[in-house]
Amino acid sequence: MTAPTDPPPETLWTRKDLVGIENLSRQEIETVLDTAAAFKQVGTREIKKVPALRGRTLVNFFVEASTRTRTSFELAAHRLSADVINISASASSLIKGETLKDTALNLQALHADFIVLRHSSAGAAQFLAERLQSSVINAGDGAHEHPTQALLDTFTIREKLGRLEGLHVAIIGDILFSRVARSNIHALLKLGAKVTLVGPSTLVPKTFEPLGVQITHRIDDVLEQADVFNLLRIQHERQRKEYFPGLGEYTALFGLTQQRAQRLKPGALIMHPGPINRGVEIDSEIADSGRSVILDQVTNGLAVRMAVLYLCSGASHPVPQSAPAA
Ligand code: NCD
Repeated sequence: MTAPTDPPPETLWTRKDLVGIENLSRQEIETVLDTAAAFKQVGTREIKKVPALRGRTLVNFFVEASTRTRTSFELAAHRLSADVINISASASSLIKGETLKDTALNLQALHADFIVLRHSSAGAAQFLAERLQSSVINAGDGAHEHPTQALLDTFTIREKLGRLEGLHVAIIGDILFSRVARSNIHALLKLGAKVTLVGPSTLVPKTFEPLGVQITHRIDDVLEQADVFNLLRIQHERQRKEYFPGLGEYTALFGLTQQRAQRLKPGALIMHPGPINRGVEIDSEIADSGRSVILDQVTNGLAVRMAVLYLCSGASHPVPQSAPAA
């Protein structure tokens, strides 16, 4: 692993957009993680701002709810000295019938350099990326991908455990409707980790197996084996029918209870992308315990998003190690 004090490697990044992990190479992923490590160092300085994106404009265009991701992109842009505008679905002309493409073209006409898009439709970010000169960053498209979440998750694992290669990561919960799961699966496999998906058969169908993951419907199969437990929320907003009898039953079968947590390997990490449903997928005390890295994930999200914006901006030279304040 590259120590955070090392300069980032010669960048291998030539992309304007980040729409998913599926099409990235291992080297591209590692470039983002190494660049993020350098930016995390910047965050420990007294003056946390660098001028890398001074004069550029980022539009946070969130057509679905978000707390962490939107604020993280906003802060990342500020730390890079970019200007930021936030647009939500209810405040945009989408509700007046304007198409996503027309709204985005108007944003581009106002010289938006970056459009960070969260949308309920899979493929929305790709659609804009192919039509706009602005950099398009996918902040979650339906149940498809959430690339920066997977990058911050893998960054956190690498930071805490020193590597990804050979680690066993269990992703537990609503895999079927989770963009976090899909992006994590792609990133973890490319980085050499072993992935087991855990959950009810309705939410963890065998159709995931060809990706190269293992599947089990019994949490007992992974409790003593996995190095990392990534717990996912049930995506009620995307489910159109009942996929399991009820939340009580879900917790009884798949929740990370205190009793189950006692069986984990020493040093195993507990992760969650948030928002947490305390007492459902994770016991409240476990979420707040020392083995939970849930808030580290949030902190690392900032450095990872700075790295993604920086790389997609085309400013592909090493991150300034002693940059003057903006
Ligand atoms: C996730 C999302 O929106 O996909 N949250 C996030 O970005 N941190 C996960 C979720 O909503 O459950």
